[in-house]
Amino acid sequence: MTTLFTRDKLKAYLRNERSESRSIGLVPTMGALHPGHLSLVEKAFRENDRVVVSIFVNPTQFNNPEDLEKYPKNLETDLEILGLYKSKLVVFAPTVSEIYPEQVAAVDYDFNGLDKVMEGAYRAGHFEGVATIVETLLRLVAPDRAYFGEKDYQQLQIIKKVVVDKQLDVTICPCPIVREPNGLAMSSRNERLPKRLRDEAKLIFEVLQTAKLQFGTESADKVIKWVHKTFRKYADFKLEYFTIAHAETLKPVIRKRKNQKYRAFIAVYVQDVRLIDNLALN
Ligand code: PAJ
Repeated sequence: MTTLFTRDKLKAYLRNERSESRSIGLVPTMGALHPGHLSLVEKAFRENDRVVVSIFVNPTQFNNPEDLEKYPKNLETDLEILGLYKSKLVVFAPTVSEIYPEQVAAVDYDFNGLDKVMEGAYRAGHFEGVATIVETLLRLVAPDRAYFGEKDYQQLQIIKKVVVDKQLDVTICPCPIVREPNGLAMSSRNERLPKRLRDEAKLIFEVLQTAKLQFGTESADKVIKWVHKTFRKYADFKLEYFTIAHAETLKPVIRKRKNQKYRAFIAVYVQDVRLIDNLALN
């Protein structure tokens, strides 16, 4: 495994790999790697000759400076974990000034409303920051394929739109959510939960699964009311949003239609730790 810190070094590496006609997969991350991230890396390995994993805690996607401050940073541990993949993997771990040489600022995008709901509604400017770094990485690496988790489903939809709008020549590969044995979606934030609450946080996935069952026979409105009522019973959990939306447009469902794909999305504070999850409903 090689670790590169600058754009120039990365470009030189990629030039060499390309001259040997090797395919490249890109896995963008912010580090603090867990098995969810590694599932992306493994899929990338199955489908490409070489894999670039980027580790960069992108400041422009944090709307809250305290959240950026608290974000776990442990490059050494991450490199140890990725070291298991040996020679086919290159880690790109740039500094902030390497990525943002002039101004640490996001670019403006028109996401056609995809950013106005759910995460975008609660985290102003977040998706502009995400799109800025992902577009930068896609242009820099020019991979054949890039891998993103359905854990951040709204992010995935927004990235797909950026790729179409900017005519980037890359295949975006969605990857299923990896969960802890109790069903809690894996996230670096889970580490911040005390043991008791980490166990209890399985409630989030249980609610999603029950909502899915209910949605088979009930209206979206009824399911939404049930979810709100359920969370009111748990003092340590504060529901931020629960939405049932069209899987492509992310527009909240008003009336169910046949042949439409729906998905449920949830954000919950467990004490001060904000967790998100989602599930396909049909
Ligand atoms: P990060 O939160 O580090 O996640 C990196 C990638 O891992 C994302 O595509 C995310 O959806 C995926 N991922 C995280 N947890 C997962 C899980 N439990 N199962 C499956 N996939 C999971 O998302 C970001 O970083 C950033 O916004 C980034 C795209 C790197 C831009 O800065």
